[in-house]
Amino acid sequence: MKITIIGAGYVGLVTGAGMASMGHQVICVDFNEARLEPIRSGRAPFFEPGLDELLAKVVGEGKLSATSNLSEALPGSDVALIAVGTPSNPDGIDLSYIRAAARDIGALLPSHGGYVVVTVKSTVVPTTTETVVREEVERASGLKAGPDFGLVMNPEFLREGCAVEDFMTPDRIVLGALDDRSFDVLNRVYAGSDCPILRTTLANAEMIKYASNTLLAMMISFSNEIASLCEAVPGLSEEEVMAGMHLDRRLTVRRNGELVRPGLLSYLRAGIGFGGSCFPKDVAALQSFGREKGVATRLLDATLDTNHLRAKAVIDLLERASGPVGGRTVAVLGLAFKENTDDVRESPGLRLIKELRDRGARVRVHDVIVDATTLPIANHVEKAATEADAVRGADACVIATKWPQYSRLDWPALLATMARPVVLDGRQVVPWTTLPPSAVYVPIGAAPPAMA
Ligand code: UDX
Ligand code: UDX
Repeated sequence: MKITIIGAGYVGLVTGAGMASMGHQVICVDFNEARLEPIRSGRAPFFEPGLDELLAKVVGEGKLSATSNLSEALPGSDVALIAVGTPSNPDGIDLSYIRAAARDIGALLPSHGGYVVVTVKSTVVPTTTETVVREEVERASGLKAGPDFGLVMNPEFLREGCAVEDFMTPDRIVLGALDDRSFDVLNRVYAGSDCPILRTTLANAEMIKYASNTLLAMMISFSNEIASLCEAVPGLSEEEVMAGMHLDRRLTVRRNGELVRPGLLSYLRAGIGFGGSCFPKDVAALQSFGREKGVATRLLDATLDTNHLRAKAVIDLLERASGPVGGRTVAVLGLAFKENTDDVRESPGLRLIKELRDRGARVRVHDVIVDATTLPIANHVEKAATEADAVRGADACVIATKWPQYSRLDWPALLATMARPVVLDGRQVVPWTTLPPSAVYVPIGAAPPAMA
């Protein structure tokens, strides 16, 4: 089938490359020309493991192309898929890009002639597709949803850093559909997927996405709150508390007597807070949706409050272990909001850096992929090319991103180069049992060692 995708971002491009690899003919449309050139030469314009190889393959086979001109792409398409940004704004989410994409599609429908299913993949609050999107397309086309064009809401469940894998082996395909005809087209797009295809209404599909993300975010904030409680009481350990909790048969399954920990439990461990372009935005969007509907959302409010407090709690932990950071040099390892991505949107590591700078620390930063000189903090921090350069002579080191590379460093050797061998392991990646007795290892989720 022929699929036009508007928005060639972390979601739109992975989705397009995945659909092309399923045999569909895909045209990605993006108004950012800088993104188009790499795509045309089979390279991803951002870091996403496996995407370069996938793009090279499907572009090489002529199954995926890219343009900034929707009127070139839409003719003959069975699906017009919207995957443009839905950034946060004080009232919830900014729908201006969604509206623009819907209007652009609508304007071209009369000349399109055939039946096309307008499909929303971007995360939008419940009822947006059947109101805002439907009205924009109908107004711009003079046509009617249903008889003249289809309407589907198909949320994405891609995690950055493993988005290609998540597309290729989905747990679920959710299709909110206006009517049978709309559903049938998207059902054919995903034919051959060996996971459940859930048909529901447009609004339920939108809510499934929000409920999924807010539950995960809430689990992280719950874990971080348990961690903060453990950090207040010497002897308590979040790691041991969670290990005990995870044994609950309702959380851990046994297969042939073996304990099997489902992936969900990886969201029940302390960290330094959640970031990214989804969790913070989606929780806030549902929170403002609740306000708009006059429904209290106390759990969502607390999820965000706990998340915002976490950076302060983590640096408090560091100061309890090794004294005030003012005037000292602190190395922060990790700028990306999570491992295996170059995305720094709402990155918790950047929140830690702000907290450190607010307390008068000099901050040196390293990331495996992100180049600090491209960030707004570039003039306020010292960029280190290697982890060794970052920690050398520093008074403390804070791990902010769970890069697997950080767990493989020679920590005893690194600590020996520091002015003070203090490491706060914000992502539980340091093999602390290998550290020398002189090291001051500060785990999260436990009271720090008495100050040396
Ligand atoms: C986006 C939304 O932010 C997210 O809420 C939704 O779940 C999926 O789509 P993401 O792919 O990470 O997520 O956004 P981003 O990386 O910003 O990509 C959006 C792309 O759309 C950008 O390449 C941007 O240039 C493009 N775009 C945006 C358009 O082509 N036209 C527009 O009108 C707006
Ligand atoms: C999330 C959802 O997982 C995905 O299903 C949805 O489609 C988009 O949003 P993403 O934001 O890319 O995906 O990454 P995820 O791995 O979920 O991490 C989100 C944030 O939570 C990151 O900052 C990560 O560091 C943090 N996190 C994750 C924790 O702090 N603790 C955890 O246990 C897991």
